[in-house]
Amino acid sequence: PKTTGHREVPEKVALAENALAVLNKRYLKKDKQGNPIETPEDMLRRVARTVAAAELVYNPRCDVRDIENEFYGLMARLEFLPNSPTLMNAGRELGQLSACFVLPIEDSIESIFDAVKHTAMIHKSGGGTGFSFSRLRPESDRVGTTGGVASGPVSFMRAFDVATDVIKQGGTRRGANMAILSIDHPDIEHFITAKQQAGVLTNFNLSVAITDKFMAAVRDNGEYDLVNPHNGEVFARRKARAIFDQIVQLAWKTGDPGIVFIDRINAENPTPQLGKIESTNPCGEQPLLPYESCNLGSVNLSKMVKGNGKKEVDYDKLGYTVRTAVRFLDDVIDVNKFPLEQIAEQTRRTRKIGLGVMGFADMLIDLGISYNSPEALATAEAVMGFVQSESHRASEALAAERGVFPAYEGSMYDGKVKMRNASCTTIAPTGTLSIIAGCSSGIEPHFALCFTRNIMDGTRMIEVNPCFERAARDGGFYSEDLMKKLAEGAHLEDMTEIPAEVKKLFVTAHNITPRGHVMMQAVFQKYTDNAVSKTVNFPADATVPDVEGVYLMAFDEGLKGITIYRDGCKADQPMSTGKAE
Ligand code: CDP
Repeated sequence: PKTTGHREVPEKVALAENALAVLNKRYLKKDKQGNPIETPEDMLRRVARTVAAAELVYNPRCDVRDIENEFYGLMARLEFLPNSPTLMNAGRELGQLSACFVLPIEDSIESIFDAVKHTAMIHKSGGGTGFSFSRLRPESDRVGTTGGVASGPVSFMRAFDVATDVIKQGGTRRGANMAILSIDHPDIEHFITAKQQAGVLTNFNLSVAITDKFMAAVRDNGEYDLVNPHNGEVFARRKARAIFDQIVQLAWKTGDPGIVFIDRINAENPTPQLGKIESTNPCGEQPLLPYESCNLGSVNLSKMVKGNGKKEVDYDKLGYTVRTAVRFLDDVIDVNKFPLEQIAEQTRRTRKIGLGVMGFADMLIDLGISYNSPEALATAEAVMGFVQSESHRASEALAAERGVFPAYEGSMYDGKVKMRNASCTTIAPTGTLSIIAGCSSGIEPHFALCFTRNIMDGTRMIEVNPCFERAARDGGFYSEDLMKKLAEGAHLEDMTEIPAEVKKLFVTAHNITPRGHVMMQAVFQKYTDNAVSKTVNFPADATVPDVEGVYLMAFDEGLKGITIYRDGCKADQPMSTGKAE
C-alpha cells in the first residue's frame, strides 16, 4: 500500500556549491581515475531503488516503482536524507547502510582483538563504533595464563585507535569511536585523564557511564566502591565528589570526557529481556546492545514551514514526511548488508531505526522565533512531539502490515502496542547531511553567521549563512564588508547598523547560555526514544563550577548524556570563526 499521494519531483536537486563538493569527494560513484560517474540525481535514484526493493519482501506484487518515486522525491526535495553510509553504499558492492554500531569487549585477548578486527570492517564501510571497556580487568591485575600483569582498558583502547588511523588512510570517511568506562571501574581515573595529552586517542570520544547511585553519593558527599570486574572484589573506595570534580575539571579543560547516565538509558531500554545497554555509538545519540546496529535519517525542518507573511509549521507535510521516512528506514534493515553475522541477527531482532531532525534553527528563523526564547522551546516541544507520535503511528501501521519486531515479546511494548521497531527516533548531529541539505545541523543553533569550515583532508571553505544573507539583502544592510567582518570574528550584536530584531533572530551558539542549550536538549529528549546529539557551548572564560552546574542540571533535566565544548579548549575545532588562512 502507498503512503499518501505524490509530490512534485524536481528534475535537478538544488544543491549548494559546498554540498556538491562534499558529494563529489566522498559520495558519488567514481571510475578508476577518481572521476565521478554518477550525478547527485543518479545517487539518490540508486538509493531510492535499492531501499524500495525491500517492499517486494512483504508484497511481491506491489508497485515498487511508485514507492521508489516517493522515496526519491523526499530526498530530491531535500526534505529527508538517510545517514551517510546509506547514501554512499546503497546499491553498491559494500551495501552497508548503517552509521551506528556497538561491539562487545569481553575480558580476553581474543575478544579484544576480534573487536579490533570488526571495528576495522565497520569503519571501512563508513560506520562508527562504540564499546564499553568496563568488563576488562584493571591495569596491573594478574593474568592467569602467563602470571604477568594486565594492560588495562586504556592501553587496549590504543589498539583500536591505531586500527582506526590505518583504515582512515584508505580515504573513506574518518572512522569514529566511543569508549565508555563505568564510574566504578578501578581504572576510572586513568580513563578520565586518557586524552589530556595532545594527539592521543584522537579517534575516540570518551564517556564515563555514571550510575544513579554515584550521583546520589555526589550529592551526599559520600564514598563509593571501585569494583574489579574480573573477580567482583572491591578494589578501593573513593569520595564520589573527588572523582566527579576531576571529570568536570577535565571536561572544562579539553571537552573530554563526556558523561552518559547509564541507569536512565537502561530504564528506557526497549528490550531489557535481551540484556543491558552498556554503550552508545560515537556521538552518543544511539544507545545499543552489543552487536546491535542502527540506521538513522533526518527530516529537514527548514522545509516544513508554510505561508507567506505569517508563517507556520506545515504539519501535513511533516506528517507525510515522517511516515514515509519511517517506512524508508524500516526497509533499509531488509536490504542492508551487515558486516558480521552476529550484527545481522541482533539488528533484525529489534529493528531499531533512528529518525531525527535537522534544520531546526533555520525553521525558527523562518518562523520569526529567536532560538533563545520560550517560543523556541515551545516550538521544539510541539514539533518533536509530533515527529515522535507520527513515527510511532507509522511503526504501528508497519507492524499491522509486516508484523512486530521479533524481540517484541518481553519488550516494553509487549501487551501495550504493537510496534515494528523497538525504537523510532534519534537526534543525530547531521554533520555532513546538513551540508548536503544546506540547512543548520541537527537541533543546534547556528554556530556563526559567517565561518570557515574545515572538512576532511584539511580543505577549508568560507560560508555565509543563506538565511542571514537573504535577511541582510531584504533588510537593505547587506554588504561585502559586513560579511567579511563577521567572517573575521566580529559579533553581530556589536554592530550599530544592524536592527535590534535582526540581532535577536540571528542568535548564534555563543549568545545562548549553557543552561539554554541544556533546556533545548531536554525538550528534544522528552520526545526522543533514543538520545539527542547536542553540544553545550561555553564561552572561553567559563569557570569549572559553571561546567559542574550544567552537568548536574543535565542529570536533573532527564538527559541521557551530555558533552560540552568550551570555546578554544581544543586546538583542532571542526568549525571556527575568524580569518581563513
Ligand atoms: O551527517 P552524517 O550522516 O554523515 O553523520 P552524523 O549525523 O554527523 O553522525 C551520525 C553518526 O554517524 C555518528 O554518531 C557516528 O555513529 C557515525 N559517524 C562516523 O562513524 N564517522 C564519522 N566521521 C561521522 C559520523
